[in-house]
Amino acid sequence: MSKKMIIANWKMNPLTSKEAEKLFTGVAKEVSTIKKTEIAICPPSIYLDILKKIRTSKIKLGAQDAFYGDMGAFTGEVSAQMLYNIGAKYVILGHSERRAQGETNVFINKKIKSALDASLIPILCVGENIRDENHGYFNLVKMQLEECLSGISKNSVSKIIIAYEPVWAISTTVNRKDATSADSLEMAIFIRKILSDKFGPEASKMRIIYGGSVNEKDCADFLKNGGVDGLLAGRASLDAKKFVEIIKICEASSK
Ligand code: PGA
Repeated sequence: MSKKMIIANWKMNPLTSKEAEKLFTGVAKEVSTIKKTEIAICPPSIYLDILKKIRTSKIKLGAQDAFYGDMGAFTGEVSAQMLYNIGAKYVILGHSERRAQGETNVFINKKIKSALDASLIPILCVGENIRDENHGYFNLVKMQLEECLSGISKNSVSKIIIAYEPVWAISTTVNRKDATSADSLEMAIFIRKILSDKFGPEASKMRIIYGGSVNEKDCADFLKNGGVDGLLAGRASLDAKKFVEIIKICEASSK
């Protein structure tokens, strides 16, 4: 199995490029001995160019969204190819905060295809807003996976990372609740089944990671008992010390 991954989603933070450099450097200087964990930081894309110049072989850069197509009349958008050209290796797609603004599975599917064409590794976010008693959330996640991954070839599917992010556990969700490693495990098993039904043996190469208020206190439990190959951290990734701690806990837990 491939290495475990710790990914930072900075969302629309920090406010200045100086702060972005400081945060990135604060992580970079602490991870030089990390060998068994892959690290990616996804800042606002406006900072990618500056952060790329900070030398580190340990941290890869990613974007938080990418439009489909290479170039053209799409005011305000940035394409996957442009992000790749500027040094990004990963791109988060279908995050719940973008879905909340109207992004559909069909739209996300187009973006995934463009990201793959541009050699970016898509991190596809799926997850339910609420857990209903009738377990309808399984069907919702199934539909998200099927529609977002529709028409993706078996050859390229192993590159895609699936991030299970239950929206009710994300740090900024009003009245949020903590998800447990058992919640993560149950959904990771379900997601693996859907992927293997759809893509066959290639699906076993896909990484599934967990995100939703991951922090330095609960990350060991999610990594050990959550059935996942890594974590996607939002709020905790805005604190270099906390993010480094998560990386080091992941490193220590990897054989
Ligand atoms: P959080 O964000 O860790 O702050 O909950 C995770 C995410 O939304 O990707």
